[in-house]
Amino acid sequence: MSNIVLIGPMGSGKSTVGAALARRLGRPHVDTDHFFVARNGPIPEYFSAHGEAAFRAEEARIVAELLDAPRPSVVSLGGGSVVSAEIRALLKSQFVVMLDVTEAQAEARIGDAATRPMLTAGTSAPPIERWKRIYAEREPLYRECADLIVSAAEATIEDRAETIIQAM
Ligand code: S3P
Repeated sequence: MSNIVLIGPMGSGKSTVGAALARRLGRPHVDTDHFFVARNGPIPEYFSAHGEAAFRAEEARIVAELLDAPRPSVVSLGGGSVVSAEIRALLKSQFVVMLDVTEAQAEARIGDAATRPMLTAGTSAPPIERWKRIYAEREPLYRECADLIVSAAEATIEDRAETIIQAM
C-alpha cells in the first residue's frame, strides 16, 4: 500500500488536512517541513545561510526517507517540493493529492509569512503578490503529479479529508 502524499501551494492546508486524514485513517502523519526543522533548525535561517538550492537538496533527501517509511503514512510535503525532478519521480509510485486553494484562502492562511522565505526574501512586495507568481509557475507541476485534486471549494479541513477518503 502506498503513502498518501499531500501537495499544493503554501497556505493550502497540507499540514492540517494531513493530520485530520491520518487521524481518520489511523495512519501516522509526517510533515516534511517539520522534519526539516527538527533536523536543520528554522527554514528562514537555513535559507539565509545556505540558499534555496541547498534547501531543495536537503528537502529531497528528507522526502525520499519519509516515503520509504515502514508503515503506509500520510505525508505532507512543502509547497516547493514539486520543483524537484527527483521528488516528482518519487511521487510516481504514491497516491498524490493536490490541495487547491483560492487566492483569498491563501491570503488568509499565509498571515505569518515570516516563516516562509519564498514569500519575503529579497522583496518588499506583499506576500500574496509573490504567492500568486509562484503558484502560476508551479500549478502545472502540481497537476502533473496529482492523482486527485481537491477543489478549493471544499473549504473545511474535515470536508477535504473526507473527499480524499472517498476517492481512495
Ligand atoms: C516552500 C514552502 C514551505 C517550506 C519552505 C519553502 C516553497 O512549505 O517548505 O518555506 O518553496 O513553497 P509550506 O508549503 O508548508 O508553507
